[in-house]
Amino acid sequence: MISSQPSLEELFDHVWGMLVRGGADGRHPYHFPSFATIHNQRGIEQRTVVLRKADKGKRQLICYSDMRTRKVAGLAENEQAHWLFYNHGSKEQIRARVTTQLHHQDESSNEKWVTIPPKNRGDYLGPVPPGNLTDEHTDNRPVSFKQNPTEENTQSGYKNFALIVSTVYHLDFLKLSRDGHIRAQFNWRDDKWEKSWVAP
Ligand SMILES: Cc1cc2nc3c(=O)[nH]c(=O)nc-3n(C[C@H](O)[C@H](O)[C@H](O)COP(=O)(O)O)c2cc1C
Repeated sequence: MISSQPSLEELFDHVWGMLVRGGADGRHPYHFPSFATIHNQRGIEQRTVVLRKADKGKRQLICYSDMRTRKVAGLAENEQAHWLFYNHGSKEQIRARVTTQLHHQDESSNEKWVTIPPKNRGDYLGPVPPGNLTDEHTDNRPVSFKQNPTEENTQSGYKNFALIVSTVYHLDFLKLSRDGHIRAQFNWRDDKWEKSWVAP
């Protein structure tokens, strides 16, 4: 909750506080944001992802993906991306412009991969690259995984596992309220956050 007459500092702390919560709490609305990428041929594409972690000090938003997805191909073409968070309960929206860094089969991706329990590794084990057309319905999970996911029979997913680290350089916050909407922006400039009010 923010006060009825918040300062820019309070709003900034509120925004990051909510993002951090969204990363940590699977029931928080910000756990399932939209993530948009820019593609040379296709233009803009967006999809729902899981916010795995938000880090205020590092200005980071983190999600995972299969290396073979279109979003990863898009990020290889253009490292810019955009996150959209909405909380229906509080009528608050956060938009974040970011640059991204892809981690694949490196120290950072391995650090995360080992924390994923075998039963949660199904998304990285699809025999068919995600997004490919198929002749019939498939859940794209190997039988061995469905029968009994183990450390051994899920390890092959590691080659498909990508860690996407976003570094935030612009935040736009909007709260709709009967008492008057509140909008502010935060820009990372010259190694510090510049905070401004914006007309809602
Ligand atoms: C609730 C929900 C959570 C999802 N979380 C992720 C995720 O964390 N990472 C991911 O790559 N795809 C996730 N997806 C699937 C994406 O929305 C998308 O369908 C898939 O990644 C392929 O997208 P792309 O072809 O644009 O890369 C999620 C979908 C839903 C419905």
